[in-house]
Amino acid sequence: MEIKIQKDYSELSSTVADIVKHQIQRKPNSRLILPTGSTPIGLYKELVNRKLNWKKVETFNLDEYLDNTIWEQSYRYFMDENLFKHINIDDDNIYFPGDTAIWPEMSYGENADLCILGIGTNGHIAFNEPGSSFDSETRVVDLDEQTIEDNSRFFDSVDDVPKQAITMGLKTIMKSKKIVLIANGVHKYKILNVAMNGGVTEKVPASILQKHNNVEVFYCD
Ligand code: F6R
Repeated sequence: MEIKIQKDYSELSSTVADIVKHQIQRKPNSRLILPTGSTPIGLYKELVNRKLNWKKVETFNLDEYLDNTIWEQSYRYFMDENLFKHINIDDDNIYFPGDTAIWPEMSYGENADLCILGIGTNGHIAFNEPGSSFDSETRVVDLDEQTIEDNSRFFDSVDDVPKQAITMGLKTIMKSKKIVLIANGVHKYKILNVAMNGGVTEKVPASILQKHNNVEVFYCD
């Protein structure tokens, strides 16, 4: 699969913001699947600056920690701070896995118009850790040691990182009409290349994307 190399983080963010912009303009009631983490921060900044009409857009976040003692490290807080509180989205159209009203219904996030993904250094997408079934749907998962270590940068110590999360599954992600994967930093290149151009295996969850017919992958170092 082609990995589209961007000259820097700013180009990566604005290229993907254009894709989201065109999607929302073409279909104002688009269903979007969105990631958290450090990679999409620039994308969300760009989207805020573009002053799009989010009134009818529905968003489904990929995952959320299973720990109600944290708030400022929760993915809902991240999305509020980086995107939702700066745009005119209707609060009723914001969905997170684990929202009691909809979870564990399997329809969570299905048939999205556009799904944006990051990739973990172990090849995870959402919190589908290595070994996750390609048939998986929304469910509670134990986080991989590598993920806990990687995400400890957002916490005071590694011990504070939640050990479990609720994640959208790989089968649901694959039902999206279009998927865009973004990766930033040399530490991501190796796994990105393995996932896109190596064997399709549950050991590398992102490799499932090779089976989708409408995926774009953007990378900058
Ligand atoms: C977060 C998510 C994760 C991240 C991945 C990369 O919602 O789904 O799969 O996309 O862990 O995270 P960053 O961007 O922080 O390197």
